[in-house]
Amino acid sequence: MTDSQKPRILMCPADYFGIEYEINPWMSVQKGTDPERSSAQWKALHQTLVDLGVEIDLMEPVKGLPDLVFTANAGLVYHDLFIPSRFRYKVRQGETPRFEEWARSRGFRIVELPAGENFEGAGDALFCGDALFAGYRFRSDVQSHQWIGERLGVEVLPMELIDPRFYHLDTCFCPLAPGVAVYYPGAFDEYGRSVILDRIPTLIEVRAEEAVFFSCNAVVVGSTVVLNQGAPKLTADLERLGYQTRALDLSEFIKSGGSAKCLTLRIDGEEAANWKSAA
Ligand code: ARG
Repeated sequence: MTDSQKPRILMCPADYFGIEYEINPWMSVQKGTDPERSSAQWKALHQTLVDLGVEIDLMEPVKGLPDLVFTANAGLVYHDLFIPSRFRYKVRQGETPRFEEWARSRGFRIVELPAGENFEGAGDALFCGDALFAGYRFRSDVQSHQWIGERLGVEVLPMELIDPRFYHLDTCFCPLAPGVAVYYPGAFDEYGRSVILDRIPTLIEVRAEEAVFFSCNAVVVGSTVVLNQGAPKLTADLERLGYQTRALDLSEFIKSGGSAKCLTLRIDGEEAANWKSAA
């Protein structure tokens, strides 16, 4: 799309972020969020990524779409193709036209899923090497992943998510490079765990007490991993593998069931993200 060798990420400022409904176990309208803190936390993430050399593309925030800030759920980017999300819950469905409009304005070719299938974008579909790891049950449907695999001509590895707190794949699985990933085993059934173990030779397991800080929901930029604070064991494991880490306070977004990775979408493709980090 551009000649830039810089990693490119889509973000949406947190101006209208808040808890206006409850669609996952982390959200409480009654408890709400602190707009000043969420705004400051978002800006710190933005600045961290800029400092790491990422080119950030910004979307216009929209009043009444508090979760638009979670651009990982925009859709799936694959080379010059963009497959827009089909949100399970009505409260998020208004985001799709905004994300489509953005993708069109950037010259992506839009590929629409067949009607009636739920799919929540890079939140549930992550490349590790050539294979697309795809989470289903709480948000995305397994049929949508199969359709995407055929349409893109890529191998899809469907994994059922079993813990409602880890309702998107990116809350419990983070590819670092081909054959290298971080995951929280408790979010998967036995079959999913065995596929991950079988396909990914170098795996860092996250403990339950660190997984609840959304530690798997990390942004990988080259050999740096940006994540929410509260995961000393994971941080040490990553550093042992040669990664640097940047821990931020993203607590306001955890209240909505999201963290660093959810707030970003790799525009040069999720598959590019982990190929480049292998360099
Ligand atoms: N409140 C949002 C929801 O429940 C959070 C989305 C988090 N996104 C992600 N990619 N895990 O839909």
